[in-house]
Amino acid sequence: MNILVIGSGGREHALVWKIAKSRKIKKIFCAPGNPGIAQLAECVNIKADDIKGLREFAIREKIDLTVVGPEIPLTLGIVDSFEDKGLKVFGPSKKAAELEGSKVFAKDFMQKYGIPTAVYKVFKDPKEAKEYIKECSSPLVVKADGLAAGKGVVICKTKEDAVDAIKLIMEKKEFGEAGERIIIEEFLKGEEASFLAITDGKTVLPLPSCQDHKAVFDGDKGPNTGGMGAYSPAPIISAKLKKEIMSSIMIPTVKAMEKEGRPYKGVLYAGLMITDDGPKVLEYNCRFGDPETQPIMMKLRNDLVDVLFTAVEGKLSKIKLNCENKVALCVVMTSKGYPGDYEKGKEIKGIEEASKLKDVVVFHAGTAINGGKLVTAGGRVLGVTAMGVGIKRAINKAYEAVSRIKWDGAHYRKDIGEKAIR
Ligand SMILES: Nc1ncnc2c1ncn2[C@@H]1O[C@H](COP(=O)(O)OP(=O)(O)O)[C@@H](O)[C@H]1O
Ligand SMILES: [Mg+2]
Repeated sequence: MNILVIGSGGREHALVWKIAKSRKIKKIFCAPGNPGIAQLAECVNIKADDIKGLREFAIREKIDLTVVGPEIPLTLGIVDSFEDKGLKVFGPSKKAAELEGSKVFAKDFMQKYGIPTAVYKVFKDPKEAKEYIKECSSPLVVKADGLAAGKGVVICKTKEDAVDAIKLIMEKKEFGEAGERIIIEEFLKGEEASFLAITDGKTVLPLPSCQDHKAVFDGDKGPNTGGMGAYSPAPIISAKLKKEIMSSIMIPTVKAMEKEGRPYKGVLYAGLMITDDGPKVLEYNCRFGDPETQPIMMKLRNDLVDVLFTAVEGKLSKIKLNCENKVALCVVMTSKGYPGDYEKGKEIKGIEEASKLKDVVVFHAGTAINGGKLVTAGGRVLGVTAMGVGIKRAINKAYEAVSRIKWDGAHYRKDIGEKAIR
């Protein structure tokens, strides 16, 4: 088969790496890809949101299956556009991707179908929102409705912070249209976990549970980022809890989307808070997570092309997922300054040395080739991923690999996985 993967981050490198192991592959393309992906696939210079361009390419190159990484093309309707031309594509339709594209849609949907989530209210008018704050007790969470590159959620310790967040999102219009409506919701206490499943709209196959590390510094300090590391499995998700998440969240979500006339196929990703009252949904994502995909792909034993193609065909009931009984852990290395303004163009050394370690893969994200040298080109630069028996071995191996990689100003958290030991 000819496969096209869309995107250019660490997630897409992990998908391409796994797809490249499939026996069914003739050729892999990635648009636009990155230098790490270029070692496994032909990178084509089409942007991930250029849906027409991607579709023309898929027709011309006789692509048998397209796998969409990021959320933007999904919410723009890439799946509908490809299917119109009879192209096979793994991901939800535009109407189904609204679960991620609109937090208001997702909250109203969860309320309607009794899927556990934080108590909330929606506002279109900043004045009314500020009035409402007066009746609330803090802490509170203020969320922009639309996509805001992971920056549209403000955790407010005090009511004053909440008023500031309303001003930022609705009056200063920090996130543009995405902030036309906001959600004000209760603050949930607990531990977070990511729960991903592959679905064809009927069968829901859970992937190994995962825990992400959003904050930039050790001990969950500092501003949130796209993700500083992840490990899988998440010990907080016991076998019992996994069953509960499947029966109270994942399966009801897929069933209810069908009822809504928005049949969901692709990856359904629930961001969860494990509270004293059980698991609650913080948000849905309509695609693989980054960096969760890096450890998940290392653990997965199935032929990924087989799984994704079968899902697109609506025959997922035939598949059984099979994973390594080990821990996989990804440490993200970032540019100095990230998630604020960051440096670029620093030469990266030592990836080869790191990759020599057994069960270690260095996934590229923000890298580029400049004058024949590999240089930094983004905030999140590499996802150094290792697998081992037990969390301690996975941690040691990942950090041994990280220690071999150098560039001027490289930053990474030194405590990825420690929560799993506690
Ligand atoms: N109700 C809540 N209670 C506590 N923390 C929350 C709540 N909602 C969101 N958060 C925190 O904010 C982060 C981002 O929120 P999320 O809804 O996942 O939006 P996004 O990923 O689109 O920025 C979450 O990972 C979580 O740490
Ligand atoms: Mg999130």
